[in-house]
This record gives sequence, C-alpha cells and structure tokens, in this order.
Amino acid sequence: MKKLTVCSLALVVALSLGGRSRAAAQDPDLGVAAREGVVVSSSDLASDIGAAVLTRGGTAVDAAVATAFAMAVTYPSAGNIGGGGFMIVRTADGSATTFDYREKAPGKSTPGMYLDAKGDIDRELTRAGYLAPGVPGTVRGMALAHGRFGKLPWKDVVMPAALLARDGFAVSESLAAGLNREVAGSMKAFKGSVAAYAKPDGTAWKAGDRIVLGDLAKTLTAIANEGPDVFYRGWIAALIDKNMAANGGLITMADMAAYEAKERPAIHGSFLGYNIISMPPPSSGGVALVEMLNMLEAMDIQKLPRLSTEAIHVTTEARRRAFLDRARFLGDSDFFNVPVGNLISKPHAREQIASISRTMASSSAELGKDIVTMPLPEPEETTHFSVVDRSGMAVSNTYTLEGGFGSHVVIPGTGFLLNNEMGDFNKKPGTTNLTGDIGTPANVIEPGKRMLSSMTPVIVARAGKLVLVTGSPGGRTIINTSLDVVLGVTAWGLTGREAVDAPRMHHQWLPDRLSIEADGIPDATLEALKAMGHDVRMGGRQGSAQSIWVHPNTGLIYGVPDMRSPDAKASRKE
Ligand code: GLY
Repeated sequence: MKKLTVCSLALVVALSLGGRSRAAAQDPDLGVAAREGVVVSSSDLASDIGAAVLTRGGTAVDAAVATAFAMAVTYPSAGNIGGGGFMIVRTADGSATTFDYREKAPGKSTPGMYLDAKGDIDRELTRAGYLAPGVPGTVRGMALAHGRFGKLPWKDVVMPAALLARDGFAVSESLAAGLNREVAGSMKAFKGSVAAYAKPDGTAWKAGDRIVLGDLAKTLTAIANEGPDVFYRGWIAALIDKNMAANGGLITMADMAAYEAKERPAIHGSFLGYNIISMPPPSSGGVALVEMLNMLEAMDIQKLPRLSTEAIHVTTEARRRAFLDRARFLGDSDFFNVPVGNLISKPHAREQIASISRTMASSSAELGKDIVTMPLPEPEETTHFSVVDRSGMAVSNTYTLEGGFGSHVVIPGTGFLLNNEMGDFNKKPGTTNLTGDIGTPANVIEPGKRMLSSMTPVIVARAGKLVLVTGSPGGRTIINTSLDVVLGVTAWGLTGREAVDAPRMHHQWLPDRLSIEADGIPDATLEALKAMGHDVRMGGRQGSAQSIWVHPNTGLIYGVPDMRSPDAKASRKE
C-alpha cells in the first residue's frame, strides 16, 4: 500500500512535468536519483564521506579515493589499505583508463613456497598469518588515480577517513557480528589484531557501540599529511619489515619501496551496440566478461526470454568456456604473454560456440581434458563501489583483502589489516588435477608478479553516453555477477534496480556445477536444466553489486545499492 502511494505521487509529479520518461525518472523504485553525482558502496558511512567530497567540488576520483580510505575504517573485512584492487575511470568525454593496484609477490617468494615436505599445498599458510600477504597496493593505487584525475588536495580526500578512525563511529549490527567472529576466531592468534579490533572492555561488540581505531587514525593521518611514501618508504614500511622478519614473513622494506601501481589501457568490448569497458590482466574479469558477451551475442541471447531454460543453458555454456580459457591463459601480463586480443575477439567467440549444443549440457572435464582441474571455491570477501560526478566522470572500483579480514594480521602500531592475496596464485606448479589445484604457468608465483584476480569492475556506455557502472565481490563468482547485471540492463532492458535485484548464477568450468541464488527460478526450469545434464544447486546469495544506472530516456543518474549487503547505501551529492 505504501509503495502504491509513493508511485502514485510519482505519477502525479510526472504528469505535471508532462511525460512518461519523467515518470520513470521520479520513480523511487529505480534507486536514488542524483543529477549532481552519487556514491554507492557497501558501507553507508563511506558512501556519505564520498558524497561529501563531491559536494565540496571533488571529482568522481576524489570521491572514490575518499570512499576507499573510509571503507578501510568502516568495512574492515574487505575495505583496506593493506590490500589491493582495480579502478576504472571513464571521463565525461568518453575516454577510459584503468588503475592496477593489485598486490605483488614479495622478492623472496618462490613458486613452491606453500608446499609442505610431502609436496602438498599447506593451505593454512595462505589463509592466515605472515606468509599470506602480497605487497599491498591500495595506497599507491589511490595516489596514482588521484594524481591523474583528482581536483581536491590529497589531504582533503584522505583525512575524513583518519578523523572517522580517530573519533570513532557506531558499529552496525553486521560489523559487530563480523568483529566478534574475528576476535574470537582467526584473529585470536595475532595480538596486534586483537588489540586493534577487540572491544576495550573485553565484551562482545553490539550494534550502536562506538569503535575508535587509534593506530589506524595515526597511519591514515600520516598518509594524509605526508603522502603515500610514508606507507611505502617511511615508518609504516619499516614496521611491516620488522614484524615480518620477526614472524617468518617475507615482505621487506625493499619490497615496499619497489611497489608501483600501474595505469593500464582498459579492455574494450562491444555487445549489442553497447561499449563494455573493463579491467585487463592481472584481472581475468574483463577478458572473461567480454569473451562471454561475445559468445552470447553470437547466440542472440537477447531473443531468449530472461530466466528461460534456454537462456540459462546458453549463458552457462558461455561461462564454462570463458572460465576454461581463464585457467589456460590468464595471469599477470607483465610476466606471461596473455593472448588478450584473441580471447576477446569475435572470431574466438564464434569458434567457442561451435561446441555448444542447444539441448545438452557440455562436460567441463571433456572440454578441458588437456589441463583437467577442479578449482576450489575462493573466499568471497572483496568489495565494490561505484561513483559518478556532476560532469559525468564515472569510477568503478573493486578492491580486496582476499578472505574476510585478509591474513587476520594487523602489524602492531599501524592499525590496518594485511591481505592474504598470495592464495590467488597457482600454488603447485605443473600439477593441475581433479583434487583442486591449477598448476598452469601463467599464474605461478614469481617475485614481483601480481596474482591473477577475478575482480571485474565494469562500465557500460552506448553512443558515447554512460549506461551502467557496476562490479561485485565474490571470488570467481564476481565475473558472473558482473555478467548478470550487464546482461540484465543490455540484453533484456531491465532498469539498474531490476538488474541488481535479479537472481544471479555461477558456473566456473570446474567444479562442473551451476549455482543459482535461492528462489531464482521456478521448479519447472530447474527440472528442465537438470534434464539437459546440468548439475544445478540452488541457494545462498551471490555478490554485492553496488551500481549506478543512467536512465536511457531522461539521462538521470540512479544510485542502486545492492541490499545483499546490509549496510549498503547510495549517497548523493547535496
Ligand atoms: N581476491 C579476489 C580476487 O582478486 O579475485
């Protein structure tokens, strides 16, 4: 009833403004309308900080940098300065570039560093502790992007996060639950981490409690005042070096000083007249996304009813083939010759779809029998945010600590969590088997190399105009979440709100299994897919696509928070 009233009011406003398209523009169900700019993230406090930067005249990149630093305070499971990620920037004139601030393997790392005496992978070493982190990239990445596209002083975009850490903030229910799990669980082994994140009186965090992060405030204040060098060459790097050496870790002062973020040309694809802009290696996301869209375009996906058995079948087959290519070919292109041009070409897609039956599921093991493997599921703790400013500049940023709370290690005196991103490398060179490991050369550990990522920030445009900014956390499911949101808006004409809310699906070649979100499809469709030979699992939630969508008729920008993350918010420039 309430919804009806709001919509009726919207209609009255729309009619008085004289047009159907204005009716859509006023519809609150589309998201948060924001002509002047908007920030959408999984943290309400961080979105507000980003939007305040827009209000002060900052660009989308200024707001993105402020949001990223704020999430390092408010969203410690994935927001970070001790991890890494990717940022895509599309400026108002339609040109696009990307920033790669993925972590790097330390100089002393070796291909077999996670193998035990019997030659088996010791997975605990990449899950937690001092051997798990790569050299962090976020601070250099933010500085590089800010140097290219920022307008406000660096200090002004970093300091809001420092003040939030210093003055404290009220924890949400989900943050309280996450911190309590951490402090009593994986963090327990690391005194510096417990000192940073346990409630000072030793009791459990409750929603509404104020958390103050003193050491993190000191670190962020130093970064705000002195710039990124204090992190990479100053006292912060020295503390990392000292604690790593004392605890069997590898990262040294020299590794920190040598770290560089890179600006790289974006991956460009076309799909049904839309321009797809995404991330090149060391992300596998952009290549796989464009490869899947090329296959689906060649199979006329837009003519199949959304969520029909046929549509789900062909998208699954496209996902399967792109993930097989990912396992074969993708790694850090600074170290391995990744055939990007071929993988994202239309002829390659046509070759790929030649093996797709319209009535039967393919076998993943058969398709990839030369390198048969069964990848383990990846941790799903990463975070994505989207920003658009008044000029139309758009930022799509996904960054991560890898697992929730990364390595669980806070270097004493710094207040921030280090990543456990080394686990994204292929850990057993030469062994690609059915028990869970990929050993193909592209993504084997080498000093200074960046581990392969699935993060898929994406920006969609059409005829020079912005259409969509999206991306997601979720390990390998990230690529498929981005695909599903892009397909919803482009192939099936959904609004951003509908595309973000729509059920999501995942297939990653091996295990040969199609996962569909709970209640995503009716029983009859499920049975039909099984009859075609698909192993379908229903259940759970996939990703968190904090998105921005531009209404095709009005040009109005809508922030579309994905409420699969309870603290998500779209905050607009005031
Ligand atoms: N750690 C998640 C990813 O980079 O794909």
